[in-house]
Amino acid sequence: MNGLFITGTDTGCGKTLISLGLMRLLQGRGHSVLGMKPVASGADVTPQGLRNGDALRLRAQGSLELPYPAINPYVFAPPIAPHLAAGQAGETIDLNLICAHCEALAAQADHVIVEGVGGWRVPLNERQAVSDLALMLGLPVVLVVGLRLGCINHALLSAESILADGAPLAGWVATEVEPGMLARSGNIETLEQWIGAACLGVVPYLEGPSADEVARSLELPDLQGTVGVK
Ligand SMILES: Nc1ncnc2c1ncn2[C@@H]1O[C@H](COP(=O)(O)OP(=O)(O)OP(=O)(O)O)[C@@H](O)[C@H]1O
Ligand SMILES: [Mg+2]
Repeated sequence: MNGLFITGTDTGCGKTLISLGLMRLLQGRGHSVLGMKPVASGADVTPQGLRNGDALRLRAQGSLELPYPAINPYVFAPPIAPHLAAGQAGETIDLNLICAHCEALAAQADHVIVEGVGGWRVPLNERQAVSDLALMLGLPVVLVVGLRLGCINHALLSAESILADGAPLAGWVATEVEPGMLARSGNIETLEQWIGAACLGVVPYLEGPSADEVARSLELPDLQGTVGVK
């Protein structure tokens, strides 16, 4: 499978926006790309069924129009931890089923961009977490760092865990989720110095950010490179 697994320092750190930007970047290079949100908690009731905003945006950015469940097999209404949402719905999240969905997408496009849920160690069922899903998919991981106070600690712990789990860390992307972060450049320099992986971009705060604009701040050199935390 060709593609990337997008994780982040937290919920709301910019994973969807960066996923859309990466999709746009690859599409700009002439590749077909599909986005996937395997598990989403927080969804609207519609006549067609539950719909999650991230999944709809990833689907819209895709190079092919696919049925909603193909890109978001597990969707739950309450915006709570996914294993708890699944439990409330009387379901168990099956990572093998997600892998099968992802392989089906990969067979239809040059690349699949898979957005995780929350951060790296979010439980998905009683035994397995987002990290297990990323390892099963075997895709290089991109760590999205939402630039805000506390992000250095979250970023370093996440990068350490990704590498300790034996996942290939393709790199990290910082995004300015709020305008006017104090000591912005110092934070970015510290991340560059301490995360022993490539910085694939720093996205400035954008009013109503579009995938096009985000793509312009991103680089994707060697997707297969694995690197370590200093
Ligand atoms: N560079 C930026 N400029 C402006 N807004 C940004 C930027 N980066 C992220 N945001 C905003 O921050 C918010 C959170 O981003 P996003 O939805 O991509 O996070 P997420 O990690 O996917 O969240 P979730 O955990 O809900 O999936 C969004 O409103 C997004 O538009
Ligand atoms: Mg998201």
